[in-house]
Amino acid sequence: MGLLTGKTALITGASRGIGKAIALLFAREGADLALTNIADDDEFNNAIKEIESAGVRVKGYVSNAASHEDSQRVVNEAVRDFSKIDILVNNAGITRDTLLMRMTEEQWDTVITVNLKSVFNLTKAVIPVMLKQKSGSIINMSSVVGVSGNAGQSNYAASKAGIIGFTKSVAKEVGSRNIRCNALAPGFIITEMTEKLSEDVKKSWIEKIPLRRGGTPEDVANAALFLASELSSYISGQTFNICGGMLT
Ligand code: NAI
Repeated sequence: MGLLTGKTALITGASRGIGKAIALLFAREGADLALTNIADDDEFNNAIKEIESAGVRVKGYVSNAASHEDSQRVVNEAVRDFSKIDILVNNAGITRDTLLMRMTEEQWDTVITVNLKSVFNLTKAVIPVMLKQKSGSIINMSSVVGVSGNAGQSNYAASKAGIIGFTKSVAKEVGSRNIRCNALAPGFIITEMTEKLSEDVKKSWIEKIPLRRGGTPEDVANAALFLASELSSYISGQTFNICGGMLT
């Protein structure tokens, strides 16, 4: 028996990186999975095949988490296909890094919409399902820069800070219905998102980390598994920093 046997999880942005690592771990722990991605590409289709090999039911949905309409549709389809959603992981996110002086309105709007509005979209769509089930765990992917701020990431940091406020509010609104809502704030995690940074920037991040290494997507997935499972049944409204001790 896995920690998530009998549960169904909906994970956004699961074609690679942290979202895919969470999907793989949840599958190994017995969860059926509804996975979303913005594009119907080889990366997504290969990820689905790889995750399916754990022997659970997996279905992919092409959906833009930034779209309110798409998010409602994907939740309706997932409920139709799996009859329930026990766990929602709002993972999809992007960066458009630049100093505020150079930031365009488009760069601001895109990051806020994809990172923050998406969390509103999916959570709003999933809450009625969880209310009916009288249980649920929602996990929102924030970032340590949402707590500490970061030069060159004012749009991204604002979106990730917004997620923390949203998480705390939702936890207060639906806690009495046995629905929990928590945030994960990863630090420097080695994925395609961080691969594009220069070697110098990567080195300077790692020097600030007491554990002296970048995190892996699996480090974040382990924390997500804890929050998704009954091991965290008395934890809600919290933000966990997954950052090798960088932020204390
Ligand atoms: P990634 O770029 O490797 O993967 C992002 C995933 O989201 C991809 O599957 C992509 O196709 C999907 N996606 C992008 N826009 C989408 C949309 N509008 N609708 C649906 N899917 C969409 O990124 P990574 O590193 O795996 O990050 C995952 C989450 O973790 C993001 O929210 C990111 O902000 C957060 N995070 C990452 C950190 C890192 O160091 N890599 C640190 C802190 C937070």
